[in-house]
Amino acid sequence: MTGNCLVRFSGVSYTYPGAAAPAIADIDLEIASGEWMAVLGCNGSGKSTLAKHLNALLVPAQGDCFVDELNTRSEDGKRSARRAVSMVFQNPENQIIAAVVEEDVAFGPENLGLPPEEIRERVRWALDVSGLGEMARKPVYALSGGQKQRLAVAGAIAQKPPCLVLDEATTMLDPRGRQDLMEVLSTLHSDGMTLVSITHRLEEILRCDRCIVLSKGRISWSGTPRELFLLGEELDRWGLEIPGMVKVWRELVKKGLLKAEIPPRMGEMVEALCR
Ligand SMILES: Nc1ncnc2c1ncn2[C@@H]1O[C@H](COP(=O)(O)OP(=O)(O)OP(=O)(O)O)[C@@H](O)[C@H]1O
Ligand SMILES: [Mg+2]
Repeated sequence: MTGNCLVRFSGVSYTYPGAAAPAIADIDLEIASGEWMAVLGCNGSGKSTLAKHLNALLVPAQGDCFVDELNTRSEDGKRSARRAVSMVFQNPENQIIAAVVEEDVAFGPENLGLPPEEIRERVRWALDVSGLGEMARKPVYALSGGQKQRLAVAGAIAQKPPCLVLDEATTMLDPRGRQDLMEVLSTLHSDGMTLVSITHRLEEILRCDRCIVLSKGRISWSGTPRELFLLGEELDRWGLEIPGMVKVWRELVKKGLLKAEIPPRMGEMVEALCR
């Protein structure tokens, strides 16, 4: 279910100090409240730079970025963007604050000034859904890389922010961990949270409402995952590799054997192949 515009980019460009070319350029983009959007593109295409504008870690060099209708150039706008948008980055080390797992997850809800009972409930819930339920009292240094990434996700979702941005936050997770996270994200999405997934793994965009592809800092394509999967050589050009199961689905659709919407079900594909 999507609603009002939560984030609006109007002609946004950003050039890092000393860089010859802008990292993102002329970005016009709206993200509706409750929408699940994926941002795709090869290394260096500007995905993280775009993401950092969502919670005012970066402010546009040209153009404007509005979160909840407030311009992130203003102090009010920055505050509002930081409250509304939680980020999880690829490297969990930079995001962990406390020495003990449950204390780290409690940090965000405590900052929101929630009552202790509610904080305890959220910490328990976030640790459980992130697969860290058993590790609540462990010291953070004793976690593996993937467990630290789970902890970063738990810390972000415990705040139940209006918008959650995951910038390649699944890179260290094992397949089971990735699948579990997708389930959690689906639930949060059904509950109305706005999600922005930045990823190279196209199997992670199956449930998204919309995806955009960045190329050299510009939005070069925008559409549904289904439309994206039906594209041809553009995918190679953007460095995107579609999942094996989707490749089979695509061939079956091309041959008119299957009209199913993605995500395709294995059973339907087997049936179509048998026909
Ligand atoms: N702190 C920085 N200082 C200078 N240039 C930067 C900085 N961060 C990124 N860039 C440059 O900005 C461009 C976009 O980088 P960005 O990190 O946004 O890309 P990305 O799409 O997130 O890449 P990746 O898939 O590798 O994470 C690149 O050309 C990069 O070299
Ligand atoms: Mg990046």
